Amino acid sequence: MRILAIANQKGGVGKTTTTVALGGLIASAGYRVLLLDIDPHGSLSTWFGIDPDNQALSSYTLFQERKELGYQSVKRLVLPTQFANIEVIPATTALATLERQAIGQDGMGLVLSRALGLLADDYDYVLIDTPPLLGVLMVNALAACQYLVIPVQTEFLALKGLERMVNTLNMMSRSRKKALDYTVVPVMFDRRTQASVTSLRTIRNTYPEQSWPGHVPVDTRFRDASKAGIPPHLFDPTSRGVEAYTSLWHWLEKKFKQRESTVPSTIPLVASKAGAVS
Ligand SMILES: Nc1ncnc2c1ncn2[C@@H]1O[C@H](COP(=O)(O)OP(=O)(O)OP(=O)(O)O)[C@@H](O)[C@H]1O
Ligand SMILES: [Mg+2]
Repeated sequence: MRILAIANQKGGVGKTTTTVALGGLIASAGYRVLLLDIDPHGSLSTWFGIDPDNQALSSYTLFQERKELGYQSVKRLVLPTQFANIEVIPATTALATLERQAIGQDGMGLVLSRALGLLADDYDYVLIDTPPLLGVLMVNALAACQYLVIPVQTEFLALKGLERMVNTLNMMSRSRKKALDYTVVPVMFDRRTQASVTSLRTIRNTYPEQSWPGHVPVDTRFRDASKAGIPPHLFDPTSRGVEAYTSLWHWLEKKFKQRESTVPSTIPLVASKAGAVS
């Protein structure tokens, strides 16, 4: 099972869109995909017609039940979608209260890592959509994932956010004693604006090894797809945005395979189905 987190401390940069676009493409390639929504705003859940204001069972439950997580208790949080190979653990607005509750609580940082370890046989890919702030939820996602995708808007202010995100990562990598592999994905590129062109160049120059060599263009079809509640590639398979995410997916898959042939898995904790953490 490959676990990807899609994160950036900056809001509105295309995290949810990237999660659903990539998740949809991966599912259509025949892989079993779980989308995990840990953003209190629940945009990903809403995309799939699930109301985050009205979820008794959600990713929040994992934190409430963190001391007795078992296979069945995690599995019961998973909701099917109308799309083949895509399942969702939804978010709820109550996730917003977690930061306050987490203070001084032991074992709060590895809840997702342990929960996803229990589902290792059930999915080929888990994609975690994160909220735009560094807190206990982001820390959980970074601890649970093997790969991180950072969507970055091609505009001047976005670069500052990216720098902050990379600093956070370096901090996390030190605490997990293993560097986290991340890919910077330039998004919302508009070739007609100088800001976009300059920012794209700066991103590639600043993170030459970590940047995906392509870019996702500005494409209004993403918003239309989310309104329609359909993954972008099923909503409009020929759109330029979908074309870009398809090439990102192929690029990432190649990278995963290369990395896995040289580096052992970096999942820090794997729990057995009986619930014991090893
Ligand atoms: N490539 C794109 N071109 C045009 N619009 C886009 C693109 N990607 C995303 N959007 C739109 O931009 C808005 C923000 O995108 P999205 O919700 O994916 O960002 P986010 O980083 O998840 O936001 P938040 O931090 O609030 O969770 C949405 O309306 C989405 O439809
Ligand atoms: Mg979002």
